[in-house]
Formats: sequence, structure tokens, C-alpha cells
Amino acid sequence: MTLSPQNPRHLPAWEKLEQRFESIKGKDLATWFQDPQRTEKLSFAVGDFTVDLSKNLIDSDMPSLFAELATQAGIPERASAMVRGEAINSTEGRAVLHTFLRAPEGMASGAGESAQKALEDIRGVLERMYSFAKAVRGGKIRMEGARRIKTVVNIGIGGSDLGPEMVYSALQSRSDGSLQARFVSNVDPSSFIEAVKGLDPASTFFVVASKSFGTQETLSNAQEAKRWLLKGLGEKGLLEGEKEAVGRHFAAVCSAEKAGKAEEFGVRPENVFEMFPFIGGRYSVDSAVGLCLVLSLGPDIFERFLEGLRAVDEYFFSTSAEENAIIQMAMLNVWYADFFGAETHAVLPYNDYLRKLPDYLQQLTMESNGKRVDLSGRQVDLATGEIYWGGVGTNSQHSFFQLLHQGTHLIPADFIAFANNSNPLDKEEEEMQEKLVSNFIAQTAALAFGTEPGTAEEKRCPGNRPSTSIFGRTLSAYTLGELVAMYEHIVFCQGVVWGINSFDQFGVELGKKLSQKVFGLVSQAGSDLSEVDPSTRRLIEWYWEYRS
Ligand code: F6P
Repeated sequence: MTLSPQNPRHLPAWEKLEQRFESIKGKDLATWFQDPQRTEKLSFAVGDFTVDLSKNLIDSDMPSLFAELATQAGIPERASAMVRGEAINSTEGRAVLHTFLRAPEGMASGAGESAQKALEDIRGVLERMYSFAKAVRGGKIRMEGARRIKTVVNIGIGGSDLGPEMVYSALQSRSDGSLQARFVSNVDPSSFIEAVKGLDPASTFFVVASKSFGTQETLSNAQEAKRWLLKGLGEKGLLEGEKEAVGRHFAAVCSAEKAGKAEEFGVRPENVFEMFPFIGGRYSVDSAVGLCLVLSLGPDIFERFLEGLRAVDEYFFSTSAEENAIIQMAMLNVWYADFFGAETHAVLPYNDYLRKLPDYLQQLTMESNGKRVDLSGRQVDLATGEIYWGGVGTNSQHSFFQLLHQGTHLIPADFIAFANNSNPLDKEEEEMQEKLVSNFIAQTAALAFGTEPGTAEEKRCPGNRPSTSIFGRTLSAYTLGELVAMYEHIVFCQGVVWGINSFDQFGVELGKKLSQKVFGLVSQAGSDLSEVDPSTRRLIEWYWEYRS
């Protein structure tokens, strides 16, 4: 099946939205809320969450218009093409099968042979990850001096880091604490120095996560880890042989194609876990990239995470567009970006364990939908992508919320909270939890309705500032999985409407190439700079002059 992009502007639903945009001018949330049924009409149940869209700049009948747009843009067909294993990542000629990572039995029935095989391969890797983790956690796999592994350090960047770190910080408090995880991504040497501070090499295990096994930052940190390990073991008199030590202390997560490179580095073949070509880095948190999570949190927690993802996949694929909160949230994002000209989108989790969520969503959303050409290579004539940013509530209220309440930008915001704390609380702590939830609720009302009439201009909050409330019961592995799947599908739906490829990332390649080239010059003081631009030349010369 060929899936040619159509310019969304030419869809009948787009035209209707244009008319609607004209007709809502002058309306505001205070007026809209005169309809006592509004919140009911615009609230959706998704798994363990309620999603309240009523504080958005839409008429309450707009879900049907959004459903028309989604349908005319071909979201249902494209979603089916995705799970059938068609190469919807057309620029790279690859299938997009991250939903297979948590697929229920029978998911691939009706799919082609290669999709069936993909499912089997995924299961095979997951089983290996679980049995490896059980052996490590049960003390069967041991390090030098028969030490148990106490810390696993994940070395990776982008999708090989952001997802695992976000999930670890969200769920660490739920684990038995027997194995800690740390994360190192940046090529800044301080990053590695801090990541291993206080660790005993004899009880430290490294996972080198890199699909390409060629990313400069990751390989540099992996080499540094090797050096640190060998030196540390040597100082303790525990170094029996370099090959032995590296083989024992390292695992790799990479594509099958790059397994040879991992082995050359010193990883034993049985410690290499496959990352499949049909799983993009930013969609890989539930793949072998989650090895550090399976080790540190345990297979049971990881399995619950997968179940949460799966539940929302099922919801997404089986719920009609009009009732589908995911499709509605995606169309709202298009509505704000292309009709209101909103450039950014804030993500505000009212939960400290989700402090890494905005970072994770930045890659998921912006690497996916930060595209300027459509699937046929034509320059798009409307805004795509949104600049995602955010921070934890309530802290953010005392920082950038001023701009949300009184600034000149229109910033749609996702407020995320949970009714219950993840920890057992006593009476006093319950009161704190209630204060947290109250802030989450109060802020969306303040943004929507602003200050009382007659308030002095400098104190006036005009209101009519949109937000979506995503309210869960309790943060857990399962509900985190639900949340991740929601955002993965939101990104997908927006990409379909915009007619872009949400699954390639050629924009980051140029920077990767240039950094290699510049490194070649920077590292050779006095090298010939006649070929580089004057600014690059001056910066390199300044560096040569002032580095110690
Ligand atoms: O940052 C660009 C990118 O290509 C991401 O898409 C990817 O997640 C990251 O680099 C890491 O790539 P790798 O897993 O191959 O090291």
C-alpha cells in the first residue's frame, strides 16, 4: 500500500477548521464554561487516567471535527500499515514496530512474514534480558572477587539514555533497591567522573547502549569506563586479565549488524542484546535499551511497564477517533500550531518522580516531528512540530509560570498529576500530597479564568490560556507505560496529519559529521585552518591559545 502524503490544508476538514477558527474569535474559556456540560463533553477516560480537554480553546462539539481531520488525513490506515510492518519510515525504508515490543499474543496475525519474525525476535531478546537479569539479581553472575553487581552504569545518549533514565527516576522508589542504576551520556569528561564517583569497580557493571555502536559520545564513555575499570581492579589486586575483566563487566545493546564491533570492544557474545532496525532510538525504551532497567528495577517491574504500554496501544487502535483522547490531543496540538501559531508546548508533571519526563518528551516529539519536508520530499507550507519544554510542578510555578499567566505567548500546556502518592503516607504527608494536587488543579483554573474583573492592569491575569489535565490514579510501572504510549501515539498522529516522516532524524547527522571533522582540527594544534570558515577558525585558535 502506498501512503502518499496529502497537504492537510486541502482536506475538507481543514477548511471546516478554518471556518471554525474564524467563528470562535472573540469567544473565551469563561464564555465557553457557561455550558455546564462542557467538561463532561470534553473529558475522556484512557486506562487509569482521566483526560480533561475542557480548558482548551475549542467548542465542545469539536472532537467530531478533529475526528474528521484525523480520518481524512489517513490516521487509521497509517496505523494499520504500521502494525502490518509496512515500511512507513520511507526515507530509511524501514518498518516502525515499537508497538511490537509490548505486543499481545497474536498481534502479528494478519501481518506479513517479516512482521511475524520481528515479533518472535523481540520475544527472544526479552527472554534473554530477563534470564540475564535474574542471574545477576540472584547472584549467579558475579564479578571479580565473587562480588555481586551493585551498580549498573548505562552508557548511551539520545534514545539510548533519555527513556531509561526517565523510567528509572520514575520507578526507582518501587524497586527493592538491591541494584542501583546510574547514567552517563555526555562526552563531557565530568559526566563520567560524576557517574562513577564512589563506585567500587569490582561491583560495577556497564551497559553500552548504542544501536549504531558508533556514536562518538557513547564510544568515548565506553573507552573511559574500560580504563576506569581496569585501573580500579588493578589497584585492588583483582585484575586477572584485561579480556576477562571487560568480558565480565560489560554488556552491549546494539543492532545485529554492529554486534561485531561490540565484541571487538571486548563484550562477550552472550552479553550482546539486539536492537532492531525497526525500532527508532526515541521509541526504544521498552526494547533491549531497557536492559539497565531490567537489571536495576527487576523483570517484574519492566513487565508491568510493558503491560501499561500495551493497554494504551489497545485503546488507541480500537477507540473511534471522536472518542479517542490520544487522537484528540494530537489534533489539538495541530490546532494550536497551525491555527493559533503556537510555537511551544509545555509539559508540567506534578510529580517529582517525573522530573525527567520533559527531557524525554523533547526527543520523542521534536526529533520525530521537527521536519520541514513531507513524505514526498516537498517543503511543507505549514508549521510542524512544537517546541516541547517544561518542568516539575510546583517548582515551575515559582519560575516560568509568570510568563504562562501574564506573558504574550500562547503556550498550550499538559498538566500531569496523580491522585495518590507512590509512597505510603502518614496523615501529615497526606496533607502535603493534597496541597500538590490542589496546586495542579488551581493552576489550570488560574490560566483559564484569570483574575477578577476590575483587577489593576499590572496584576491582571487575562485567563483564556489553554491547558489539558492528565490525571492518573497512582504513578506506577503500569501507569508510566500508559503515559509513554499516549505520547508515542500523539506524536505519530500529528506526523500523519502533517504528512511528514516522524521516524527518521537526518537533521542530527550533519552535527555528528562536523564534530568529527572539527575534532580532527582541534586535536592537532597548528593544523591548517584555511579550509574552515572564519568564525570556526577563530574559535579553534582561541581554544589552542587558552587551553591549559
Ligand atoms: O541523537 C541522534 C541519535 O541518532 C538518536 O536518534 C539516537 O537515539 C541517538 O543518536 C543515539 O544513537 P545510538 O543508539 O546509535 O548511539
